[in-house]
Amino acid sequence: MTRPSEAAGDPAPLNAQARTGAPRIDGPPDPDTDPSAQEPPVLRVEDLRTHIQTKAGLARAVDGVDFELRRGETVGLVGESGSGKSMTALSILRLHPQPAARIVSGRVEFNGTDLLSLSEREMRRVRGRHIALILQDPMTALNPVYSVGDQIAEPVRLHQRLRGLSLVERTLELLRLLRIADPEARRRAYPHQLSGGMRQRVVGAIALSCAPEVLIADEPTTALDATVQAAYLELLKDLQRKMHLAILFITHDFGVVGRMCDRVVVMYAGRVVETATRARLFQHPGHPYTHALLRSVPTVAAPTQRLLTIEGQPPPVTEFPPGCRFHPRCWLYERLGRPELCRTDLPLLQATGPNAQVACHFAAEVGRHRPDMGEAHDAVGVPA
Ligand SMILES: Nc1ncnc2c1ncn2[C@@H]1O[C@H](COP(=O)(O)OP(=O)(O)O)[C@@H](O)[C@H]1O
Ligand SMILES: [Mg+2]
Repeated sequence: MTRPSEAAGDPAPLNAQARTGAPRIDGPPDPDTDPSAQEPPVLRVEDLRTHIQTKAGLARAVDGVDFELRRGETVGLVGESGSGKSMTALSILRLHPQPAARIVSGRVEFNGTDLLSLSEREMRRVRGRHIALILQDPMTALNPVYSVGDQIAEPVRLHQRLRGLSLVERTLELLRLLRIADPEARRRAYPHQLSGGMRQRVVGAIALSCAPEVLIADEPTTALDATVQAAYLELLKDLQRKMHLAILFITHDFGVVGRMCDRVVVMYAGRVVETATRARLFQHPGHPYTHALLRSVPTVAAPTQRLLTIEGQPPPVTEFPPGCRFHPRCWLYERLGRPELCRTDLPLLQATGPNAQVACHFAAEVGRHRPDMGEAHDAVGVPA
């Protein structure tokens, strides 16, 4: 596969690969560049806050989010509905609804450059080309009046300046890469002529068309049925290996986390409450919220998958409680006799091990108690 040299007039070399030659979309991953703690993160989000002016008051949808993403790694961003996952994703790309939503503070470093400091013109070059986004509903990303081929070709034409036959070749190559059968015919099809799973693959082809370094996938398989979902996840993993992609995978399904993610970032009420490797999170959840989520009842529809729901409701985004935002639903708070600290002080993320952080005043107590045993069972998610 060939790729034209970087287009003229680009801003600072955001793409680290650009300095070492054209990235290969189908090349084998370089063993020397496998993710490791030494490698600087490709994406680093620091104290990100996006607030939205609403009729009900100021919604602190994203209110202090920190995490890192390295090359070749998949980080799961999980949390109940309304915890601020999508707004975090949109804010990273500065696609949050404006002017209602405003990024009020923080940094979003992409290969060391703070995206929040770029002009809108520079930001347009980052979107799609360096950081791509896949949303839950492929129809929102696809235009009904253009053929699939035209829509895949568009970013390639724009960012890589391919024209004519080489543009068609590249489009077919991308369709094949996403394992879309009969690419010649599919190229001429319109979105409504394809199945939901096929449409999501087309969105994937568009997202990966310019060989981005980061892919943000916001619940990309939620609307797909189980078999189609499994195939899509497999495909994403395969493409990740080939392209050495860093993936931020937003989901509310622990089954998907178990299948896809190397590390997990857990959000609650606009903030990160825990980050850990997948194994650590599943075996030793560090935050009472994660603990409760992992023990929540699997649904009948998906008996082997754990969906993110626990009893009680998250607080309204315009009225977070003082102190720890989880304390009104926290089993450990109850167990410890409702310590005042939980009601007064917002807990910050603290290291609890290598690659692990927890925002709980009583993180050290979490492992000593189990919410699903004896009297503790009744305490899971019961509001104070
Ligand atoms: N355009 C908007 N206007 C007002 N509030 C919004 C808007 N978008 C999101 N919110 C609020 O921000 C919070 C976080 O939303 P979101 O990031 O979509 O959550 P998640 O993706 O975790 O389900 C929610 O409480 C939601 O109601
Ligand atoms: Mg969402």
